[in-house]
Amino acid sequence: MRITPNDLAAKKAAGEKIAMITVYDYPSARIAERAGAPVLLVGDSLGMVVLGHETTIPVTLDDMIRHAAAVVRGRTSSLVVCDLPFLTYASETDAVVAARRVMQETGAEAVKLEGGAAIVPIVKRLVELGVPVMGHLGFTPQSQHTLGVKVQAKDDAGAQRLIEDALALEAAGAFSVVLELVPSALATAVSQRLRIPTIGIGAGLGCDGQVQVWHDLLGLFDGKAPKHARRYAEIGTAIEAAVAAYVADVAASKNGCQKAPLAPDLKPVQV
Ligand code: KIV
Repeated sequence: MRITPNDLAAKKAAGEKIAMITVYDYPSARIAERAGAPVLLVGDSLGMVVLGHETTIPVTLDDMIRHAAAVVRGRTSSLVVCDLPFLTYASETDAVVAARRVMQETGAEAVKLEGGAAIVPIVKRLVELGVPVMGHLGFTPQSQHTLGVKVQAKDDAGAQRLIEDALALEAAGAFSVVLELVPSALATAVSQRLRIPTIGIGAGLGCDGQVQVWHDLLGLFDGKAPKHARRYAEIGTAIEAAVAAYVADVAASKNGCQKAPLAPDLKPVQV
């Protein structure tokens, strides 16, 4: 059975925490689903961790669609949420076109949009048209040049604005909201006020769920990992060692020859 946006509210009501993880391709979707992740986010962090850009801003709708479609092909039961990239939802018309393309061309069930009061009418319109929307408040990477990469809503006015934005997104019909780089006490308070689940990243344990970036969690990205990213493996180092062993084998003429010894424990591939 496929997880639905409504299931996430039921999980919150049942006190069950929600694990969301970003994935960007077919194999990672398969692995994340087998590992039990109920929600897969095709985040526009794609821009940095997969495409080598400095920010999410250069990511295009076509980039998101290509990767989200691969993720959808890899999953069976997890809910797939796809970010709408920078300025593809600046007007209601643009948002409708972008959401239509994402849902029709990828099969993702939901889209994620960054922002508060300014995008509430857009969220309302999408939801009225049948598009499930996840919100994103706090540090919103598409606005990083105006916000700065830092914890948001640290003063009373900022905290009040964030609470109002979260309530307005819920009233507009959003089924969940990501809280990124928000003080833990504020994220907890917002999570208690909302009926819909909050998914935190750098927002403490009081959120209804957590999201992490695949490459940060697995040690696959050698750029600077954010402080809140907890590393569960060093896959990048393991890949580097395997490729170095292969390169050394080739250099020693051990590989590329049918009779060459293979790395320990590997069986020759029949061609
Ligand atoms: O693009 C992304 O990976 C995200 C998460 C950090 C929430 O939006």
